[in-house]
Amino acid sequence: MKGSLHIYDDVSALNKAVAQQWCNISTTAISKHNAFRVALAGGSTPRILYQYLAHPDFRDQVDWSRTHIYFGDERCVPIDHADSNYRMAYESLLSHVPIPEKNIFPMFDQNYSVEENTENYSALIASIPCFDLILLGMGDDGHTASLFPGTPILEETHKPVACQFVEKFSAWRISLTFPTINAADNVAVLVAGDGKANIMEAVVRGDENNAEFPIQRVNPQGKLDWYLDKAAARLLPGNTE
Ligand code: 6PG
Repeated sequence: MKGSLHIYDDVSALNKAVAQQWCNISTTAISKHNAFRVALAGGSTPRILYQYLAHPDFRDQVDWSRTHIYFGDERCVPIDHADSNYRMAYESLLSHVPIPEKNIFPMFDQNYSVEENTENYSALIASIPCFDLILLGMGDDGHTASLFPGTPILEETHKPVACQFVEKFSAWRISLTFPTINAADNVAVLVAGDGKANIMEAVVRGDENNAEFPIQRVNPQGKLDWYLDKAAARLLPGNTE
């Protein structure tokens, strides 16, 4: 498996470590090019990270005026919908830190179609240099962002952003594509819970040159770090009790 593996006692410790990595990367990025461009992950695991980043211990390490918040993927729902990744990020982080609204780039606007939102975000991502940090999660089927097994979006090699109807949810999603993810300077994959132990074992055991799962196609030109709790790492070599 590509990248560096970091294992923590629990999901809180995992997210605290990622919060410090966020601060470190943001400081380096801002000193290098006067901005920190980061794409947030959705789902439940990173909520704790966002809550940590809203705490003064981490919040006060970050120059929010030069932080630019994007999204790795989004459900095509209104931003106040319970499923919205933007809503989760707003409630856990963005409403608690002094970040200018102009620095936040939601991925879906209900006033436009899925295709229009996809084109708009594609143009936005094409207009910026690579991301300083992309946060990702992983589902128990090996998906990441909204890049699900067996879906055509996995084969997108040019567009920086694409949309995909996901049968398992009977819903449209918009997602960064692998070209964008793999152009990033830093990618952090957050994986927690016993429910991810089997897929983690399969990913680590798998042939990274013959990707069986979407997450195995994450191979950034920069640094790849995996942040796991002990539960998700339970079946990995050297971690089985
Ligand atoms: C989403 C995420 C998705 C998520 C994984 C893991 O929009 O749901 O982008 O890829 O990261 O499904 O989710 P958990 O962290 O909740 O296990």
